[in-house]
Amino acid sequence: MSSFPAITAPKGALALPLAPPPAHVAIIMDGNGRWAKARGLPRIAGHRAGARAVRRAIEAALEHGVRWLTLYAFSSENWRRPREEVSDLTALLRHYLKSEIAELAANGVRLRVIGEAARFSPDIQASLKEAETITAGNARLNLTIALSYGGRDEIIAAARKVAEAVKTGALDPADLDEAAFASRLFTAGMPDPDLIIRTSGERRLSNFLLWQAAYAELIFLNVLWPDFAATHFSEALADYAGRERRFGARPG
Ligand code: IPE
Ligand code: IPE
Ligand code: MG
Repeated sequence: MSSFPAITAPKGALALPLAPPPAHVAIIMDGNGRWAKARGLPRIAGHRAGARAVRRAIEAALEHGVRWLTLYAFSSENWRRPREEVSDLTALLRHYLKSEIAELAANGVRLRVIGEAARFSPDIQASLKEAETITAGNARLNLTIALSYGGRDEIIAAARKVAEAVKTGALDPADLDEAAFASRLFTAGMPDPDLIIRTSGERRLSNFLLWQAAYAELIFLNVLWPDFAATHFSEALADYAGRERRFGARPG
């Protein structure tokens, strides 16, 4: 496998858009099952190929100088899948953590996990914690993996923290504003995504970053996640660069 791009001198192979890149790109990595089905392979083969595409997405983010990359890997609803697929996916996650963390760490990637990590087995939870600790000093790319993540779950958890703070007297309800609420989400301290990409042709958020997506630009790609390549990332950034973001203000 190729190593990640060097910190200096981006390679000339990609058409880099001239506008500054979005600070935060989030990706709904969808289509592994369909990719496998089209090849007459079991779904796990699609998930394995999807893990290789994760590597390409990280390389592309590094190459373009994107500082925040968030990847939707497993939703809180994905636990409803057949037990065999869930156990294949957790085995793949276990393998991925072992094989990739050292290289991520060496390339200045800081890893964070959002979601209900407590639903995974203790060894996976320990690996996730270890990966977060090992990479905590890195700042080149903030890579966040959404695992057992659901936007509604996240909002409810934040609302519960608000209710508790009010109950103990630590928070006056009149002081609850967007910043105070956002500081209780899993994504506390992270910028909102500027761009959300979903692969596989589906055009929905599937419970991803519901609060944070308020003003995100959305790009839906007709490519199955295992086929995701650096060129798709470049093209999405070029599309994003041509968009006018208004945040509700008068058109410029
Ligand atoms: C995305 O691919 C991976 C996960 C949701 C874990 P899918 O497994 O959803 O693939 P499709 O949508 O069935 O093709
Ligand atoms: C969304 O994909 C979750 C991830 C990509 C991890 P799904 O395949 O689970 O979403 P739906 O069921 O098609 O909405
Ligand atoms: Mg899917």
